[in-house]
Amino acid sequence: MSESNYPLEPYKIKSVEPIKKLNQKQREQALKDSGYNVFTIPSEKVYIDLLTDSGTSAMSDHQWAGIMTGDESYAGSRNYFHFQKTVRDVFGFKHVIPTHQGRAAERILFEVTTKKGDYVPNNIHFDTTRANLEFRGVVCDDLVQDSAYDPDKEALFKGDMDIKKLEQFISKKNPQNIPFVMITITNNSGGGQPVSLKNIKDVSRICRKHNIPLYLDACRFAENAYFIKKYESGYSGKSIPEIVNEIFSYADGATMSAKKDALVNIGGFVAVNDDELAEKLKYNLIRSEGFATYGGLAGRDLEAVSRGLKEVLEEDYLEHRIGQVRYLWECLNKQGVPVYSPPGGHAVYLLGDRFLPHIPRNQYPAWAVTVALYREAGIRTVGIGGVMFGKTDKKTGKEIFPELELVRLAIPRRVYTLSHFNFIAEAVIRTYQKRKHIKGFRMVHQAPYLRHFTAEMEEIP
Ligand SMILES: Cc1ncc(COP(=O)(O)O)c(C=O)c1O
Repeated sequence: MSESNYPLEPYKIKSVEPIKKLNQKQREQALKDSGYNVFTIPSEKVYIDLLTDSGTSAMSDHQWAGIMTGDESYAGSRNYFHFQKTVRDVFGFKHVIPTHQGRAAERILFEVTTKKGDYVPNNIHFDTTRANLEFRGVVCDDLVQDSAYDPDKEALFKGDMDIKKLEQFISKKNPQNIPFVMITITNNSGGGQPVSLKNIKDVSRICRKHNIPLYLDACRFAENAYFIKKYESGYSGKSIPEIVNEIFSYADGATMSAKKDALVNIGGFVAVNDDELAEKLKYNLIRSEGFATYGGLAGRDLEAVSRGLKEVLEEDYLEHRIGQVRYLWECLNKQGVPVYSPPGGHAVYLLGDRFLPHIPRNQYPAWAVTVALYREAGIRTVGIGGVMFGKTDKKTGKEIFPELELVRLAIPRRVYTLSHFNFIAEAVIRTYQKRKHIKGFRMVHQAPYLRHFTAEMEEIP
């Protein structure tokens, strides 16, 4: 494996956390104990954790120093004002409402803006976004362009929303029944692909024509901005903050899980321009999360978010981050492992159904790959496919599966080194070589929402 494509880290390591690899027998036991669900394996039994890039970042010394400046006053903490200023500077929205994480931002926004029977389109709704909307009786539609579902298509900006589909959707459903349109940047459930500025601008124009607010799910806004700088014509000379500013100038608000591109372990916010809406959001926040200047977070957390939101805009950081993901993708692709193309911003996605073509969709091939990778090397990943998004047809009782059956290898920010990446690549390749021996799964227990978190499985002999 060549090191030439591996980008140099723009940081050095000051603090470390030991990790240990269990032996084969211990890993087998951990799988059994977890009901073959890697979500429920204790993290100490995981060697390399690629379950998520959410809340798993290594904070900088500057962020840790900020933690010590936490002002834990109930109201008006100075860290809130730093946080508010940073969010205003970076995103340009007037009102900034802190929440403890992204799904709380979603819930608070959706409770105030939606009602049963409404329709909300997204490029692809992330699982918590969809769950929060569906819980309120809202019908969710994914209007990403078709290429997003073609894992072999090497196109840029496969996270773009299909403009024609959006126009048809609005005329069919009627603007009055659409409380807002949402775009997720980058598109986590569609291969972590970026959305172009042109597309954001076009969607915004259509929304404004019909008087429908546009909100961005901003979890990975800086990674998306980096792709725009690198690949969208007209943006190579612009700085990342300029691009970010332009992105959000086309939106009426945003929700964000700070656990991604704010480089922290907890936090989130909803930010909007509308004064009346902001008032309602604040009341909802106070009722359910906490006072308006902390929203379920400690002052120290707000400081870390504020500092992280500035650090993430550094271009050398982004170059390294996106380059690390590309490196892993290249190692796997070269060896014929089926991967979603091109590589996304925060993760490499394996094509679970092609990895295990002998396992039918109703035996959850992506899930089977997550079990196989843990079994092989103690690597934890997540299936983004039938278990996460499968639905039972009420009439036929049959399961309906999403287009893609992906296994996400999410890369925590500033956490793993080149030797970890080589270890991961080798383990995935070995697992792929042994694929014929991997078996499918049947679900023996499931929750009504977000079933992948707690599902219990049985391996089919
Ligand atoms: C695109 C997207 N939206 C929303 C969320 C929810 O954020 P949180 O996990 O902080 O609740 C996530 C988390 O992974 C995400 O990736």
